[in-house]
Amino acid sequence: MKAEKTNLIDELMNDIIEPGIQRLMQTRYFTELRSGNLSPRRIQAWALEHYLYNITIAKGQVICMFKYAHDPELYNAFAEKFAEEQHHPNLVKRFGFAMGLKEEDFKVARPTFENLMHMSVVLRNRYLGSPIETRVSGFTNETILTRYSDEFDINLRKYYGLNDQGCQFFMMHKIADEEHTRDAANYIMRHCAPGEEQIVRDVADWIVRLNIMKFDGMYNAYA
Ligand SMILES: [Fe+2]
Repeated sequence: MKAEKTNLIDELMNDIIEPGIQRLMQTRYFTELRSGNLSPRRIQAWALEHYLYNITIAKGQVICMFKYAHDPELYNAFAEKFAEEQHHPNLVKRFGFAMGLKEEDFKVARPTFENLMHMSVVLRNRYLGSPIETRVSGFTNETILTRYSDEFDINLRKYYGLNDQGCQFFMMHKIADEEHTRDAANYIMRHCAPGEEQIVRDVADWIVRLNIMKFDGMYNAYA
């Protein structure tokens, strides 16, 4: 039984998440980032959009603390994540400031349609989703974020003159979220009931597509 469930995580990684990350890396956004040709405005776009998204994630964790107050494992998992995540919108801002944004830009930031869709699905998965949907959603988002944080960290230093101060968010997320993803994978392996495998695949697929959609949306909305 355990081996079958381990295979589910391997299957998710091999068939859905890894190919999704490859597709994300082929988008105009990341192709231009890797060659140093992405406009600074499109890089600022990520700071503004992820700031809004990160606030949503932190509030989604509060929802889950409330929703799973009776379940020590889930309550503690979300309480720990909230303790970390509540500070991350400020780390995103620090990156934005290094790219020339001002406090005022964050105050008036509005999400693109695509980012709004991503935030909405994340909140839906946390608020209305089953525990397994909530965890797969987080697992997929964090795996993708971990990978693209590495990409940002390398290329922002190489082409855009950023240092440790500006790249702190990416330095933390290319490492820190690996623990989150491991915990979520363990939870999925232990709790995925027979018949729930397709739900797990669908949620991972939606999250992959939403991430790709979000970066395309940012590319198009900002010049
Ligand atoms: Fe974070």
